[in-house]
Amino acid sequence: MTSTTPYSQLQEDPPMPVPQIRAAALGAGFFGSILAHEAARHPDIQVELVADRDLSSATSLAARLDAQAVDDLAQVTSSDVDLVFVATPNHLHAAHVLAALEAGKHVFVEKPLTITADDAMALTTAAARTGRLLMVGHVLRTLPGVLRMHRMATSGELGELLEATGTRTRVVHVPDGAGDWWKLDPSRSGGELLHELHELDLVCWFLGGRPERVVSLSGAPVRVAEHQLDTVTRTTMLFPNRAVGFHDLSTSAHASAWSFRVTGTEAALEVDFKTATVRHVVDGHEVDAWGVFDDPTANESLRESARSKQAYHRHNDGASVPPSWMTRAVRHEMDQVVHTLTTGDGVLTQFPDSAVLAALDAFAAGRVALGDAARSTVHA
Ligand SMILES: NC(=O)c1ccc[n+]([C@@H]2O[C@H](COP(=O)([O-])OP(=O)(O)OC[C@H]3O[C@@H](n4cnc5c(N)ncnc54)[C@H](O)[C@@H]3O)[C@@H](O)[C@H]2O)c1
Repeated sequence: MTSTTPYSQLQEDPPMPVPQIRAAALGAGFFGSILAHEAARHPDIQVELVADRDLSSATSLAARLDAQAVDDLAQVTSSDVDLVFVATPNHLHAAHVLAALEAGKHVFVEKPLTITADDAMALTTAAARTGRLLMVGHVLRTLPGVLRMHRMATSGELGELLEATGTRTRVVHVPDGAGDWWKLDPSRSGGELLHELHELDLVCWFLGGRPERVVSLSGAPVRVAEHQLDTVTRTTMLFPNRAVGFHDLSTSAHASAWSFRVTGTEAALEVDFKTATVRHVVDGHEVDAWGVFDDPTANESLRESARSKQAYHRHNDGASVPPSWMTRAVRHEMDQVVHTLTTGDGVLTQFPDSAVLAALDAFAAGRVALGDAARSTVHA
């Protein structure tokens, strides 16, 4: 290109190609399948390996993605992929993420990062030591309407931040004959507060990391078939900047709510996931509003999902189609993954362990307040 090249011609130069990110998907169940599909359809990601201890799950997903199926973690760590997506049961994240980081891979791990504080710290330390990127699947952070809220809150448009409130309260339905299923076993899921920590994560992410004080109460778990399911938990947090966080979680709320709000001295922003709408409010008056997604079809799909029965999915048999808002959300997440690997930074790497540590502090606070009799005792 010479200095006399006209500007119009310069603009037509093709963009610099992004090197293909070579990836492996570890865990080919319900959510691992969605992640792997959306990764594979991203133009900058090539899913080369699908790993699951159940080889038939790995094989059926790999066949749909034109990837190789393996049933052994060692084949993932010894491969030359750049990135590993970890979507195994929660209690296995620590071992799987650590193995991938130690093998020099960048890692995207589904939430929650881990189910113990020691493991959370071990993983953030390992990422720093190995110089690899650790992204946690806090998918709500990547939704366009929520990202815009975060940009406004962190740029000072709301004034000084005073509080943030996250709410996820609904009735959770459990499949018939769930048997010995990890999602209903707190020693493997971490319990409901950890397993469903999306809005707790938003509170921590908006208010700047781990709260320095946590007060929390949980009611006694309810019996669902042969399982015990946590019911109602209310948590209050004080952050180092003196802002206060509130969080409500329920698996038994017939009058359901699904929302997040952040309030500053000048304005508040609130997202209602049930209506797929974000509102900018000043002194009680709505001054602006926008969608959770940029796309009306995804917003309608989110509204439709929020109206329907909330069930834990057993597994992905390849035949069930996830709602379009969910695949759209994971597509936004994949854009963030590529952005992070390209620039070394992104919203999924920020405060990777704050929500897990806040949830574990909440469990501990609840035990101090109520004693073991009030809740299951797995959260040591
Ligand atoms: N971001 C979200 O909204 C969202 C939604 C659902 C699940 N998740 C998370 O995704 C993860 C997976 O959940 P899921 O619903 O897909 O569960 P799942 O039970 O459907 O899938 C888990 C898969 O891991 C495999 N597996 C178990 N042990 C393994 C091992 N040692 N090595 C390799 N593979 C092993 C299982 O065979 C199964 O295929 C969890 O961490 C969960 O919290 C996130």
